[in-house]
Amino acid sequence: MSPATSAARVVVRAGRVITCVNDDAFAGGAIDDGVVVVEGGRVAWVGRATECPAGLHKTVTLAGPHGGGLLTPGLVDAHTHAAFVGSRHAEYAVRMAGGDYEAIAKAGGGILSSHRAIAAASEDAIAEELCARLARMAALGVTTVEVKSGYGLTEEHELKQLRAIARAASKPGLPRVVPTFLALHALPPNVDRAAFVESVVERTLPAVAEAKLARFVDAYVDRNAFRVDEARLVGVRARSLGLDVRLHVGQFADIGGAALAAELSALSVDHVEHVGDDGAAALAKAGVTAVLLPIASFTLAQAPPDVALLRRHGVPLAVASDANPGTAPTESLPLAMALAARLYGLSTEEIWLGVTRRAAASLALPTHGQLKVGAPADLTVWDLPHEAALLQPWGSPRAVHVMRDGVWLVGGA
Ligand code: NIG
Ligand code: FE
Repeated sequence: MSPATSAARVVVRAGRVITCVNDDAFAGGAIDDGVVVVEGGRVAWVGRATECPAGLHKTVTLAGPHGGGLLTPGLVDAHTHAAFVGSRHAEYAVRMAGGDYEAIAKAGGGILSSHRAIAAASEDAIAEELCARLARMAALGVTTVEVKSGYGLTEEHELKQLRAIARAASKPGLPRVVPTFLALHALPPNVDRAAFVESVVERTLPAVAEAKLARFVDAYVDRNAFRVDEARLVGVRARSLGLDVRLHVGQFADIGGAALAAELSALSVDHVEHVGDDGAAALAKAGVTAVLLPIASFTLAQAPPDVALLRRHGVPLAVASDANPGTAPTESLPLAMALAARLYGLSTEEIWLGVTRRAAASLALPTHGQLKVGAPADLTVWDLPHEAALLQPWGSPRAVHVMRDGVWLVGGA
C-alpha cells in the first residue's frame, strides 16, 4: 500500500463479509466483522477487522448500515435481454388469462413484437433505455450484466441493437456490460428459413466480430425456435471468429441442445427446464455452466429444471434474471435469487455462487465475482444481517452501497 495510491484507498467494514472465493461460500469464505480494502480499483486486502494490517480498520471510510450489514461481491447477471424497448403488457394480460406463450409467438407476437419495437427505435433511444435499466440494476446490487441482442433479427437492426449496447457499455457509472449477439432468436418476418441462417453465418456474424460488438454468440435451440443443425452452423462459425458460445437450451423441450453446447465447448446453457441424463453428463464433462432462470419458468408456470440431475452430474450452476419483456418482466437478480430458493430448492451457497463467481466464470471473467486480493473491486453492501436474508425480503431493494472497479455506482463514502 504505497502512499502514491493511498488517495484512492477505500476501507469498507461490515458485520459480515462473504467472499465467494471457496465453493462453500460460508464455511470457507464468510468473515464476521470483516474489512475489505480497495486500492486502484482492486481488492488489496480482505479479512477480519481485528487482523487488518497497519491499523487500517481504524481508518474505515465506509461502515455497513447500523454498524453491521452484509458485504458481498457485486452481483453478476449472466443472462439478460435488457436492451429491449417498449412493453408487452397487452400480451402479458392475454397470457395471464390463459393465452399460451408459444402460440402467441407463432401468431406474430412475443419476440416478434419486441422486434417491431427495436426496428422502429433509433440507436440512441435503445441505448438510453438500456442505460436507465442498467442504473436500476445497479441499485439492486448488480455490477456486471450480460446483455443480449436478439430483437433486431435482421442484420441492420441486430447491428443497431449491438451498437446501442456498446454505447451503454461505455458509459461510466453503470454496471459492466458483457455483450452477446443473440444470432438465432426468431425468424424475421417474410424471410426464408435456410436463407436467414445462411445470412447470419455468412454476413451478420462476421460483421459483428469485425466490429467487436459481441463477446458471445447465442442461439435459441428449442422446439418452435431453431434446430441443433442450424445452431451448430452459427456456433462453429462463431468459434472460428474468436467468439464464445452460450445457448438457450431446453426451455420447452429437449431437442439435443445440451449435447451441442458440449460439442461447441459453450460457456453456458441457459434455462434447461428440459434436459436428459445424457445431456447433463455431456455438460458436466465439457464444464458448461447451467444458467438457471427461475423468473422465466415462474412467469410461464413451468416445472423447475431437474436440479438434482444437474447436481448429480456436477454441472456448475448459475442463476440469472433473464430480464426481458416477455418471459421475465423484471430487472431484479435478487428476485431470481429468491425464486431459485423457493421454486428450485437451490441452497443459499449455490445461489450466492451462482450470482457471483460461477456467473462470472460463465462470462469468461475468471477473477470477477469474488473478493480476493487482486480481484476487481466489485462489491455490494446490503442492509441485511446475513447472506441467507437476501432470499426473503422479496421485491425490496436492500443494496445500499454498490462499487464497480473501485468506483461507487450507488451510495458510497
Ligand atoms: O429467455 N427463450 C427465448 N428468449 C427469451 C424470451 C424472449 C421474449 O419473450 O422476448 C427467454 O425467455
Ligand atoms: Fe433468454
